[in-house]
Amino acid sequence: MNAEDKLVVRRISNGTVIDHIPAGRALRVLGILGITGDEGYTVALVMNVHSGKLGKKDIVKVEGRELSKEEVDKIALVAPTATINIVRDYEVVEKRRVELPGMIEGIVRCVNPKCVTNAPREAAKPRFRVISREPLKLVCEYCSEYLSEDEIIAQLAGS
Ligand code: CTP
Ligand code: ZN
Repeated sequence: MNAEDKLVVRRISNGTVIDHIPAGRALRVLGILGITGDEGYTVALVMNVHSGKLGKKDIVKVEGRELSKEEVDKIALVAPTATINIVRDYEVVEKRRVELPGMIEGIVRCVNPKCVTNAPREAAKPRFRVISREPLKLVCEYCSEYLSEDEIIAQLAGS
C-alpha cells in the first residue's frame, strides 16, 4: 500500500477490499453486491486512483462483510482484473484474483424467450461462451443469442 492510498481512505479492521477494479467500475461492483447504503455496512468507494499495474483503478472496501463464491464469480464478469482481499483484524488474511472463465454457467440468463434455457419445465442450465472480454460479450451455447455487457450488468444488479 502506498502513501497516496492512505490519504484517500483508511485501512479497514474486518471485511473485504476489492482492489484493482478497472477504473470507473466500482459502482457496478456495488450493484452486484446489492449494496445500496441502507444495509448499514461502512463502505469506502475509491474511483480513478493511480495504479502501477492498471494506470488507474477503483477500490471498494466493505467493512464487516465477506463475499460468497457466487458474488466473486459475478464480480469477475465486470471487473476481471480485481483482487479480493479478506481482512481480519487489520491484516490481509487471504488475497485472490477473480477469474473470468471461457465458459460462464448459470450466472446470467439468455435473453431469447424461446431458448431451451428459458423453457418453463426442465430448462437447461444457461451456458455462455465468452467471445469478447473488453467489452464483455457472451454467446448462448444453445441458441447463439448474444449477451452484451450492458445486458449482463443489468441482470447482475437486478438478481
Ligand atoms: N487494506 C485495507 N485495510 C487493511 C489492509 C489492507 O483497506 N486493514 C487494503 C489496502 O489499502 C489495499 C488492499 O487492501 O488496497 C490490499 O492490501 P495489501 O495486500 O496490503 O496491498 P498490496 O500489497 O499493495 O496489494 P496488491 O499486491 O494486491 O496490489
Ligand atoms: Zn439461449
